[in-house]
Amino acid sequence: EVRDLAGKIVVPGLVDIHVHLREPGQEHKEDIASGTRAAVRGGFTDVCCMPNTAPTIDNAITLDYVRNRAAQVGACRVHVAGACSKGLGGEALSDMGEMAAHGAVAFTDDGRGVQNAGMMRRVMEYSEPFGKVIMSHCQDEGLVDKGQVNEGPVSTRLGLQAWPAAGEEIQVMRDMELSRLTGAPIHIQHLTTARGLDMVRRGKAEGTKVTCEVTPHHLMLADACIDETYDTNLKVNPPLRGEDDRRALIEGVADGTVDCIVTDHAPHAHHEKDCEFELAPFGMIGLETALGAVVSTLVEPGVIGWARLVELMSVRPRQIIGIDRVALEPGCRADLTVIDPEAVWTVTADGFASKSSNSGFIGRTLKGRATDVYVAGRAVLHEGQLTGPYAQGAC
Ligand code: DOR
Ligand code: ZN
Ligand code: ZN
Repeated sequence: EVRDLAGKIVVPGLVDIHVHLREPGQEHKEDIASGTRAAVRGGFTDVCCMPNTAPTIDNAITLDYVRNRAAQVGACRVHVAGACSKGLGGEALSDMGEMAAHGAVAFTDDGRGVQNAGMMRRVMEYSEPFGKVIMSHCQDEGLVDKGQVNEGPVSTRLGLQAWPAAGEEIQVMRDMELSRLTGAPIHIQHLTTARGLDMVRRGKAEGTKVTCEVTPHHLMLADACIDETYDTNLKVNPPLRGEDDRRALIEGVADGTVDCIVTDHAPHAHHEKDCEFELAPFGMIGLETALGAVVSTLVEPGVIGWARLVELMSVRPRQIIGIDRVALEPGCRADLTVIDPEAVWTVTADGFASKSSNSGFIGRTLKGRATDVYVAGRAVLHEGQLTGPYAQGAC
């Protein structure tokens, strides 16, 4: 088939190394089939899912289940981050060696964070020989406690429990110091504050093996978006920060400090978010809006060019989880995303392929959208339409 792609931009397949697919155990929010369909709609050929499922992905059996399921019903490739402890926030380390042997690409306690420095040190020391990156959620429980929104004028005005920036920054600094001590590479997940970003900037200059990610929602939205309507879709962990932090993150994306953009796609059912702000679970979906948000917020205003977008959403994420080492041979089939840079579209609650619609972007108009996605040379998105059913096979 010959396609006329005049006016389109063809890039190597986009990769999101931070998503929550909810399978096994919370399939009412999302499952591997629906989550990967949302990924493909968003232009992604590869995602890396987090282990805070039920049961937790903290052993080879659960890991195998997720990988096999993804091979059967996944619309795109699914890589898996194993939990570094048994159960979420568990005191015992998981068998990371066995999970590495079964294809885990990273280890993390995302959704909770490793609270204790001694525990994190053991995680890093134990994991280092397996050569897998540790992804850290960076949340100090003592400071965050029952925090609901960023500590500042918004938390005061709305009377919501405050979540200080230091509750994140302390862990960023801790993890970088422990990385230096143990030799294990550390990846800071969903960085949200100006000071945390500065710490990473300095760490990199000092040769620390640190990488970091930011989300489109922390780049595009700030705590001031939360008002007296108490939109629970804007309740995320870590919280939307102040305007100064948001601008600092954009600066970090522009100057190269930020390695990659991830969605932290966190689906929750309508009935779970349809409650008081304090009772709602944290998280918003992001796979289908990420590209449009990044193009609108960063490319359109000229903050970054397309080459940097490809670095942030395809090249660096592959390197961080080590899926860039696959040997390419002549004739090997490509992973490609075709982007319409001029597509202007409005986000609506009923327009998602995800099972959930808890997006903070509903009602916003975005520019830029994936029209076609090829995984291993096969069209999984064709002129904006999902082609399914799928079977990607093991990756
Ligand atoms: O907002 C969030 N939701 N942040 C996390 O770290 C976890 C995630 C989830 O699993 O819902
Ligand atoms: Zn997290
Ligand atoms: Zn997460």
